[in-house]
Amino acid sequence: MLSNRSSYMARTENEPTCSLRISRDSDSIWCSRECARYAKRIGFRNGEIWDIAIAVSELVTNVCKFAGTGTVTICWLRVPKSGIELVVEDSGPGIEDIEAASEDGFSEGRRLDDNVPLSERRGLGEGLGAVQRLMDEVIIENRASQGVRVIVRKWLEN
Ligand SMILES: Nc1ncnc2c1ncn2[C@@H]1O[C@H](COP(=O)(O)OP(=O)(O)OP(=O)(O)O)[C@@H](O)[C@H]1O
Ligand SMILES: [Mg+2]
Repeated sequence: MLSNRSSYMARTENEPTCSLRISRDSDSIWCSRECARYAKRIGFRNGEIWDIAIAVSELVTNVCKFAGTGTVTICWLRVPKSGIELVVEDSGPGIEDIEAASEDGFSEGRRLDDNVPLSERRGLGEGLGAVQRLMDEVIIENRASQGVRVIVRKWLEN
């Protein structure tokens, strides 16, 4: 559920607006729909809303696939400029080599070349690369405790 707090919050603050729990595969659909709905309220246009929805879907799918459960936190950014920030976090095993994982065609710790049979592939290894192309800023990090935190931002063009 989206909180209504943002509608009366002072428009000079950055404050997390709502948090969505990821607990099953189908959550990628409603998380991306909620983030899209929020992006629309902030003032993003259709093409940008799609970019945000696809990025959320990729990140939430990763949480489901590799960690099981997690959260998406939506923040309406007002300073230094207007935009949206989404923080997708989990407490799974983390990513051993973040740089390699961000490359297209790298999935579950190996490059998907001819030596990896189709039956052993669970993805194309393109999700994180797609997120980087769709959003303006992407930070992928292993959390100090456990798991992965991905922070993505998109700015409203005025
Ligand atoms: N939340 C996560 N926890 C643990 N490992 C992750 C997480 N997200 C991504 N990874 C690792 O990074 C790799 C690359 O992720 P990416 O989304 O690019 O590809 P994929 O999920 O394997 O395939 P695709 O997204 O194309 O279906 C994954 O294969 C996985 O090893
Ligand atoms: Mg993926």
